[in-house]
Amino acid sequence: MADAPVDSITSIPVAVVGAGPAGLMLAHLLGRAGVETIAVDTRTRQEIEVTQRAGILEADAARDLIETGVSDRILRDGYEHEGVELRSAGRPYRIDFKELVGASVWLYPQTDVFIDLADARERDGGTVHFGVRDTEVLDVTTTAPRVRYTAPDGSRHEIRARYVVGADGSRSMCRDLMPEDRRVRYGNEYPFAWFGILAEAPMSAPELVYARSEHGFALISQRTETVQRMYFQCSPDESVDAWSDDRIWETLQARVSGEDGFRLKEGPITEKTVLRFRSFVQEPMRWGSLALAGDAAHTVPPTGARGLNLALHDVKVLADVLLRALGSAGEAALDEYQPRALQRIWRAQNFSYWMTQLLHSVPGASAFDLRRQLGELDNVVGTRAGRAYLAEQYTGWPARGHAR
Ligand code: DHB
Repeated sequence: MADAPVDSITSIPVAVVGAGPAGLMLAHLLGRAGVETIAVDTRTRQEIEVTQRAGILEADAARDLIETGVSDRILRDGYEHEGVELRSAGRPYRIDFKELVGASVWLYPQTDVFIDLADARERDGGTVHFGVRDTEVLDVTTTAPRVRYTAPDGSRHEIRARYVVGADGSRSMCRDLMPEDRRVRYGNEYPFAWFGILAEAPMSAPELVYARSEHGFALISQRTETVQRMYFQCSPDESVDAWSDDRIWETLQARVSGEDGFRLKEGPITEKTVLRFRSFVQEPMRWGSLALAGDAAHTVPPTGARGLNLALHDVKVLADVLLRALGSAGEAALDEYQPRALQRIWRAQNFSYWMTQLLHSVPGASAFDLRRQLGELDNVVGTRAGRAYLAEQYTGWPARGHAR
């Protein structure tokens, strides 16, 4: 296959495997600096657009998307949130980001970030091929790596690049190109998953509600005035077919109900999915002429919505080092990528893990485990330092504050 004849050969500085938010934002940032890319993805644009993902952007990520000309829709259609509510045993505790750390986040779904990025690529004349198959990445240990793929019409193409970026998501094939004896994979599995729904209903609360209850965790998020996104902790092997709308609403109501009389506003459920829960990091993030970005290099459990934000941070760093590597600094500039990306990755790994264990019911937990968890939650909501710890991480760590 590697040397079979192809219908076209194109030379380009950077080939990007994966055209989700990480791949497209990288292509966009490089394009703004005059560096051309070709991005390929096995999914169609339509498939990516309808895949529900998280909905929270750190203020820095939102600002980057706005200021680099990807999305002014965030300001029009997004919602700025200056805090979140934590609920435990039916009592509400507000974490006031603005007051605690002077920051906020934006409720703006990843699907919309993707649409804005894909539109921006089209507008700027960037090349993105969706719906390709049989993608092969070759010669990554040389200075002339190649990507080969079959287009939807069956024709076969080769991209000759100086660098290849693997932004091909949590089921990445690019990360497998790093030899087994050179790579390390760190991971954690969790004994639960999330059941996610979209519902046609009015907002139940002005901000997100993260609820811990004796029945398990629930998260109340929003999309628009008329469409809501909610999740509840379930078993990893849960089947969506076993859940009627009534059963879902009953479960969600039980997890958020409390002495303040809080109730969710119900409506028809238009989507049901079970979300995988996993922590994962692969190092190195670069091998020869190949660099990994976003979910291809690391995945976090959804609690705290770090995934997209981390991916956007990766590609910001990667665009910077790639531009220098393609300029006079040469390949040595790429050595900076992993250390600069990893600090935030491990902070986010810790935060996602920490927020998960703080709020979820662990099957088989002892009475001690349960009381310890309540003690920790009390430390978080009941002390200013605890609230500030959550607020600083949730809003994405101040850029200037990456001191050691
Ligand atoms: C959403 C998802 C999350 O995992 C989270 O922590 C916050 C919000 C969402 O889909 O809106």
